[in-house]
Amino acid sequence: MRVLSVVGARPQFVKLAPIAAAMRDRAEHIVVHTGQHYDEIMSDVFFRDLGIPAPDVNLAVGSGKHGEQTGAMLAGLEPVFEKYRPDWVLVYGDTNSTLAAAVAAVKLHLPLAHLEAGLRSFNRRMPEEHNRVLTDHAADLLLAPTQVAMDHLATEGLAQRSVLVGDVMTDVLYQVRDQVERSGLRPAGMEPGQYYVATIHRPDNTDDPARLAAIVEALGGLDRPVHLLAHPRLVAAAEAGGVDLQQGSIVLTTPLAYPDLIAAVSSSAGVVTDSGGLQKEAFLLRVPCTTVRPETEWVETVELGWNELVGSDLPRLRAAVQRPRPAATEATPYGDGHAAARVVDVLSERMTRS
Ligand code: UD1
Repeated sequence: MRVLSVVGARPQFVKLAPIAAAMRDRAEHIVVHTGQHYDEIMSDVFFRDLGIPAPDVNLAVGSGKHGEQTGAMLAGLEPVFEKYRPDWVLVYGDTNSTLAAAVAAVKLHLPLAHLEAGLRSFNRRMPEEHNRVLTDHAADLLLAPTQVAMDHLATEGLAQRSVLVGDVMTDVLYQVRDQVERSGLRPAGMEPGQYYVATIHRPDNTDDPARLAAIVEALGGLDRPVHLLAHPRLVAAAEAGGVDLQQGSIVLTTPLAYPDLIAAVSSSAGVVTDSGGLQKEAFLLRVPCTTVRPETEWVETVELGWNELVGSDLPRLRAAVQRPRPAATEATPYGDGHAAARVVDVLSERMTRS
């Protein structure tokens, strides 16, 4: 079986790590990097730290407006798919790289599998929501991380093509958490239990200077140091909108490599974020999370009490972050840490059948 994975942005490298490991000895695995994320700290460190083989192809597409970026990927992927003619094109999550690869694959009649299928925010302002809905409806095989995702797919008439495999981010998180514990990796300059970790990068939060200023002010007003791991989009938007990121409690930092991020979150008093992955990582590490968005795809984290949403009412952020520690839970809505092996099983099973 020949599987061609297309990745391009930071969360996709994290998801690729356990898949690449599970493919070893079981499939010929071609990795194509679109180049959507290209900085050392947004891309290269993930391949290095997570032991992912170097991409076979890098399209080096870089940044751009949605149409420009997605279009460049689509044009770049077509000859690559024609060259390799894989048994499966495997796409991940909800970025512009996901959508471009999905469209390129279906136009060439190549079987398409979508990992992390069925997530919905029901917020059509999010580019990620367009990407996931369009990709799910184009794909031949929908690999869902949770029962909630399976239910969304069934509602949209896609049950026949859907399989619940669990969440591959749980696989990689558990492995790296154990490595971090064994190695005793400690985040530099962070006093255990005495700081928060924050990330903000979604367009709805960064691109309106008034909204961004209100978020930064709320973070700066928290009662402990807030290590703000600044995504390039945040830095660029703050500069363009004249928002000073270095205020009050904020300690401005570059994004962290994955093991450093896990070490930092594990020892923190809480996480404040608009990232999808980090909400779940906080839950799996049993660190309280506050999400700066009106809704979340990872509803289980909220239902279990480990995540609280703060949308427009930013003055409420302080109370949300300082809320009492949630009740302990043994729930495992994101699987058992063996999702990647199940993905390879399903791909080979469905290939034989077709
Ligand atoms: C993308 C994904 C989002 C994912 C996020 C994780 C889309 C539509 N969005 O958002 O789903 O949660 O990645 O990080 O695909 N930049 C750099 N260096 C880089 C990458 C980006 O400087 O390595 C800057 C560019 O100036 C760019 C901006 O960051 O304009 C945003 O990058 P972009 O690729 O548009 O999307 P993200 O916001 O990173």
